[in-house]
Amino acid sequence: MVDNRQHVKWFRESSPYIKAHRNKTFVIHLGGEAMGHENFHNIIDDILLLNSLGIRLVLAMGAKPQIDSAVTEAGQKSQTDNGVRITSPELLPVVQQTVGKLKIDLEAALSRGIVKTTQSGRDIFLASGNYIKAKPFGIRKGIDFHHTGTVRKINTDLIHQQLDMGAIVIVAPIGYSPSGEIFNIHSTEVAGEVATALLADKLILLVDGTGQMDHNGELISELAVSDIQASELKAYSPIAIAHKACLHSVERCHLISYKKDGALLEELFTRDGVGTQITRVSYEQIRSAASEDIPGILELIEPLEAEGTLVKRSRELIESEIDKFIVIERDGLIVSCAALYPFEDKGELACLATHPSYRNGNRGELLLKEIKKRARTSKMSAIFVLTTVTTHWFTERGFVEKDVQDLPHGRHSLYNYQRKSKYFEMPLKADSQ
Ligand SMILES: CC(C)(COP(=O)(O)OP(=O)(O)OC[C@H]1O[C@@H](n2cnc3c(N)ncnc32)[C@H](O)[C@@H]1OP(=O)(O)O)[C@@H](O)C(=O)NCCC(=O)NCCS
Repeated sequence: MVDNRQHVKWFRESSPYIKAHRNKTFVIHLGGEAMGHENFHNIIDDILLLNSLGIRLVLAMGAKPQIDSAVTEAGQKSQTDNGVRITSPELLPVVQQTVGKLKIDLEAALSRGIVKTTQSGRDIFLASGNYIKAKPFGIRKGIDFHHTGTVRKINTDLIHQQLDMGAIVIVAPIGYSPSGEIFNIHSTEVAGEVATALLADKLILLVDGTGQMDHNGELISELAVSDIQASELKAYSPIAIAHKACLHSVERCHLISYKKDGALLEELFTRDGVGTQITRVSYEQIRSAASEDIPGILELIEPLEAEGTLVKRSRELIESEIDKFIVIERDGLIVSCAALYPFEDKGELACLATHPSYRNGNRGELLLKEIKKRARTSKMSAIFVLTTVTTHWFTERGFVEKDVQDLPHGRHSLYNYQRKSKYFEMPLKADSQ
């Protein structure tokens, strides 16, 4: 007999995300590499599923490898400079033909997907058009890029109208000048510019790897835009595009693999995701606390101590334990804090708080991720929390209730039976983020 418990658990855990994503606008960059990959049809099915859940979708398509092949087949040569194709007048018809065919293939795949998946019978509306006003890339360092263009303006009203009607909007990497000239534009630029202009909630770039890697080749699951060194980024690379979009207006960008079946769903509907999420908290900093932060931390936690949500901590205690704290600072104000205390091979997450004016901005989640990261670095096997009123916040993020008798010995001896706090634990897998 098939064990459906895992499905039930996954479905329950994904329900808050289903609610959160409804009516949100996501721009997905579908590069030519993704469209040529064997996993493409699974991606299409997942895109249709997102559409059926009420997510407003814009697909910014690319066609680079397909254009490369078509150019070779036509016996022509394509030149690039710094990753930008030089679209000569001879090359333009090849580009037009290839992009046109690929767009039709994409529309066909989306149409076929509807029949194949559970959404059979549901009408789906695909829209595309002259959304991009372009200007020439120009002559740079003596090189004439001819019909290679760059985005001048996006017709956001038209895209929004079509999204309002429930359409999946397809944006090709082609723009038009007011004089009727046709321009070939880098598709990642199009994706970033469209997401920015639409004030999209998410820009999702499907990439070759699993996401953004650190210097040790490990996946970075979460990056604040302020952590990215813009000068080190390759122009038009997914991370550069994500960085720019976040700096401008997009709340979150995601880099996820186009090769992994289900990566889109895992990234959007599970707590930890599978790729790299880049968030916009540029003017905020998450960092280790220092002694100058003590007045700010006290101001933040004292009201919560007074109402009994947090255990009372004296200034002296915080002073002596300041190295256990991390904070989020915004314009010089401590808006969130948390602490990690080691007990045997586990760590207690304590004193987690966000200023009431700044709640529901994902700061608690960011602190939890940072605490998990630090706990893993210290080789801890789990983090735990003792809480009286915030039980659901922790269980919704993967903590599981345990008997207080199972607390690490050193913490159990300090347990305050009058507070009747509940004990929740989250195991840490060394290999996950
Ligand atoms: C819990 C707390 C730290 C979350 O901070 P935050 O910066 O708002 O965190 P996030 O933005 O990541 O999470 C917000 C989400 O948690 C939910 N949430 C807040 N408190 C909750 C609770 N007690 N139970 C369940 N969910 C809760 C919010 O409704 C919001 O959900 P939504 O995104 O579906 O709207 C903050 O509410 C707080 O400071 N609470 C008082 C102190 C406290 O209870 N600390 C824990 C002590 S152990």
